[in-house]
Amino acid sequence: MSGGEIKGVILAGGLGSRLMPLTKVTNKHLLPIYDRPMIHYPLECLVKGGIRDVLIVTGGDSAGHFLKLLGSGADFGARIYYAYQQGEGGIADALRLAEAFIAGSRVAVVLGDNILQQTIRPSVERFSAQPRGARILLKEVPDPQRFGVAEVKGERVQGIVEKPKEPKSNLAVTGIYFYDAQVFDIIRTLKPSGRGELEITDVNNAYLERGQLEWDRVEGWWSDAGTFESLYKASTLVREGGANLG
Ligand code: G1P
Repeated sequence: MSGGEIKGVILAGGLGSRLMPLTKVTNKHLLPIYDRPMIHYPLECLVKGGIRDVLIVTGGDSAGHFLKLLGSGADFGARIYYAYQQGEGGIADALRLAEAFIAGSRVAVVLGDNILQQTIRPSVERFSAQPRGARILLKEVPDPQRFGVAEVKGERVQGIVEKPKEPKSNLAVTGIYFYDAQVFDIIRTLKPSGRGELEITDVNNAYLERGQLEWDRVEGWWSDAGTFESLYKASTLVREGGANLG
């Protein structure tokens, strides 16, 4: 069965250790990207993509600041819900907290430090038309070893490796993921990786094994903002070329 409602999840937890000391007293996703707090961008990405029910998963000492900043979501054209992640279990562990909220429908997940120039609406539409499974967004980058990297043959993904020392392609897996409700069963099968986290790359590879992983190429620029260099780059890109356009 294709179609069905798509709800949004923004993952905005983590320690932000690569941005210390900026993150010593606040959450990474509250830091500025040019003229706005980082969390505004993934929220706007979902809303402009046509997704209005959004769960924000965060943690740590600054969780209350997200409520103060975003409130009910009405100012953004969204209905915002909040979940609290205790401890640091990784992206897939944080996503697990969304199971009751998603309640059998489909989900668009955006990592809170990922910023796109163009709207994700075409991918939302293609995912809606998909009978089942997952959809990921890939982008060519000059430094693939920093990301999950997809090996693509023809139009099919062959495999994804998390932060490979010797990447087989320059196609980074961006932090925008679409899943059907199977994702929660998949997460229950995961084991922590070398860095002690439940990896989103393992979720994507599980869909791949089921023959249910589709992908789109990101149009326009994409940046994460989890390091000093990428935070600076993202600010510059937003200043020069906007975000979530179209
Ligand atoms: C995470 C994912 C990685 C992905 C990246 C996108 O990395 O594990 O696969 O390419 O986000 O921003 P992290 O930022 O947690 O190191």
